[in-house]
Amino acid sequence: MGEAMRHHWLLLGACGWVLLILMFFSKFISFRAVDDYGERVGGQSWTVPGSKVVKPVPVSSPEKPFPQPSDQSSAVPSVTDWQSVIERRIELLSSVCENSSLRNLTHVSIRKFVLDRIFVCDKRKILFCQTPKVGNTQWKKVLIVLNGAFPTVEEIPENLVHDHEKNGLPRLSSLSPQEITHRLNTYFKFFIVRDPFERLISAFKDKFVKNPRFEPWYKHDIAPAIIRKYRKSHRDSELSASGLHFEDFVRYLGDVEGRLRMDRQFSEHIIHWVTYAELCAPCEIHYNVVGHHETLEQDVPHILKAAGIDRLVSYPAIPPGITRYNRSKVEHYFSGISKRDIRRLYARYQGDFNLFGYPSPDFLLN
Ligand SMILES: *[C@@H]1O[C@H](CO)[C@@H](O)[C@H](O)[C@H]1NC(C)=O
Ligand SMILES: *[C@@H]1O[C@H](CO)[C@@H](O)[C@H](O)[C@H]1NC(C)=O
Ligand SMILES: *[C@@H]1O[C@H](CO)[C@@H](O)[C@H](O)[C@H]1NC(C)=O
Repeated sequence: MGEAMRHHWLLLGACGWVLLILMFFSKFISFRAVDDYGERVGGQSWTVPGSKVVKPVPVSSPEKPFPQPSDQSSAVPSVTDWQSVIERRIELLSSVCENSSLRNLTHVSIRKFVLDRIFVCDKRKILFCQTPKVGNTQWKKVLIVLNGAFPTVEEIPENLVHDHEKNGLPRLSSLSPQEITHRLNTYFKFFIVRDPFERLISAFKDKFVKNPRFEPWYKHDIAPAIIRKYRKSHRDSELSASGLHFEDFVRYLGDVEGRLRMDRQFSEHIIHWVTYAELCAPCEIHYNVVGHHETLEQDVPHILKAAGIDRLVSYPAIPPGITRYNRSKVEHYFSGISKRDIRRLYARYQGDFNLFGYPSPDFLLN
């Protein structure tokens, strides 16, 4: 389905060019923030012109956002304190990688799908694995600037960030095996994760409810395929009218065997919901830093410093509150869904929960 799907729809889009222009303007105004964090911040892009490197600001968190023991104090940890947080994450990651009972959820081969996810900054010897819905556009902009195609983050046209023919940000898969091995062994490597269930909610909202980019294949090809297979009762005539329910999505995601064939058809679009382990192979590739969306305010300055680029480039300002874990949202989305389906989903994503230190969502499972 992948490329053919895209071409089919792009052709349709070209016919309705007037529509495209309208969409372009609406996108221009607001869709990047939606794409990036799955939450709408006001009605405008939040790339603040001239913003400096994000300072570690206090995370005000009424709901305990994230289970780092050291996060409890209200004082802002310094960058050196944060180093120990980062080290503990890496230690946890390697110990979970060694747990043989989780092996099939944590280990993947470094295949082309993984190499496609990793972007290369040769100028600064950095590799960045892309995990959607956690501010990836912002990191891509940072790397594009470092590679030299644009002088500052603000000067990169939005439509160029994801155009990998023109933005000067190659994927690791475009290099030879020797070049790949050399970079994997010697470059600074990082990626960002967030609570696995909140991430799935975010992907569901962004691709199947709002779909703010011009990506009609989610609603018109992928959703009907999932509904046909996983909705308990449906009539074909209602497929596209009713739209994908979160319940259908959860049943599809938790169906380990049944989903394999569909996922092949959905091709690269599955990057929005396959596990972080499948995207970035964190047990095979020895990443230096795994950032957490929930603590992005602390992780961003740490990553910039650890990669040796804190004086060269700035990360766009992070809108306050946008990275916070929202338990009531998670409860709300899962409220109509059977324990059996939620437990299956957890069984499928348990590797990600354990690898990155997210507590199992017992409030949903029991
Ligand atoms: C391996 O993971 C399972 C499932 O999370 C856990 O019950 C078990 O204690 C872990 N084993 C070790 C040695 O950590
Ligand atoms: C992983 O292996 C266990 C048995 O060890 C099995 O029950 C489970 O379904 C497997 N999970 C996946 C995702 O293959
Ligand atoms: C959490 O999510 C709920 C439901 O989506 C929303 O109403 C609420 O404003 C959110 N809370 C915060 C602190 O963002």
